[in-house]
Amino acid sequence: MTERAILNKPRVLCIDDSKSQLTLFQFELSDSYEVAVASNYEESLACLSAEMPDVILLDMNMPGIDGLEFLDILRYTPRFKAIPVMMVSGDQDPEHLKESFRRGASDFIHKPYDPEELDLRIRRTLNVINQATVKAKTPSQDLSAQQLMIQSLADLASTRDNETGQHLVRIEKYVEALVIEAAKSEKFKDKIDMVFVETVTGLAKLHDIGKVSIPDHILHKPERLTPKEFEVMKTHTTKGAETIERLQESFPTFRYLDTAKDIILYHHERWDGKGYPEGLAGENIPLSARIIAIADVFDAITMKRVYKHAQPIIEAFVLLNDESGSHFDPDLVSIFLSVSKAITEIHNRYNDQ
Ligand SMILES: [Fe+2]
Repeated sequence: MTERAILNKPRVLCIDDSKSQLTLFQFELSDSYEVAVASNYEESLACLSAEMPDVILLDMNMPGIDGLEFLDILRYTPRFKAIPVMMVSGDQDPEHLKESFRRGASDFIHKPYDPEELDLRIRRTLNVINQATVKAKTPSQDLSAQQLMIQSLADLASTRDNETGQHLVRIEKYVEALVIEAAKSEKFKDKIDMVFVETVTGLAKLHDIGKVSIPDHILHKPERLTPKEFEVMKTHTTKGAETIERLQESFPTFRYLDTAKDIILYHHERWDGKGYPEGLAGENIPLSARIIAIADVFDAITMKRVYKHAQPIIEAFVLLNDESGSHFDPDLVSIFLSVSKAITEIHNRYNDQ
């Protein structure tokens, strides 16, 4: 947020070709915000030149330059690229939501919206940006350093687990598809924001990093593991978490590491409490780990491994459905099944065979 926003009301620029919608925004927001309105591209640029907003509400569908094209312009213009943009749309096309996030939107509001929810979402966006600004001023909390650390850890993990080919790429893509869809659902829309989407997607590739500590004769064994060997294999969750804990001692302000630890430690927990290492159940299992569990098992079923053949993708969907509510979070399974077309495309595109 700008200093003016901290001292006075934050400034919101609302861009929509509907004059009645702009009037509605002014009515709903002017108690808490300084509201500027623009009904087309030219007026928007004039407003941006007059005074920099703290957040932009941008209509997806506008004549001429549409919302996504305008979003691109903002993202590629140095002086505007840091302004958070919340897309607003009356259509329900899931592709529009995904494409908005890919192009850098901070949030996505469906019309008709609840005015109180709109206000809360704007506040959350402003808070996220404010925190990011404070963090960016501290070199030790630099986001790029966190991302570099994650990539280094993932590279280390993948050199050790070389039989799985594009496994880590697929996991990341499955997780992205699932978490974006979950963000739109009634069940999870208040729990998942853009920071969560990016964090969980970016960290998915770290889930099995603890396998670096598993001996070769167990990790690469072509036959089924003995009970004793399986006990050793299970320690990849706790050993991996210990690695993250050591990093947390050196980098206590890296919030990414909290989520990384949840994913690594808990991705083999089960909804019914029969998983490992702690036997957590239901929503006691961190949401990030519940998401990874579905993507990980789905990939394990559908791809060939040294110890088993690949099963048809339809069988993997059936198994997830059968184990919804026992192994997996039932709400997340139904969301995963609802994007089965996108999941199938990812599976076919990044297939090792
Ligand atoms: Fe694992």
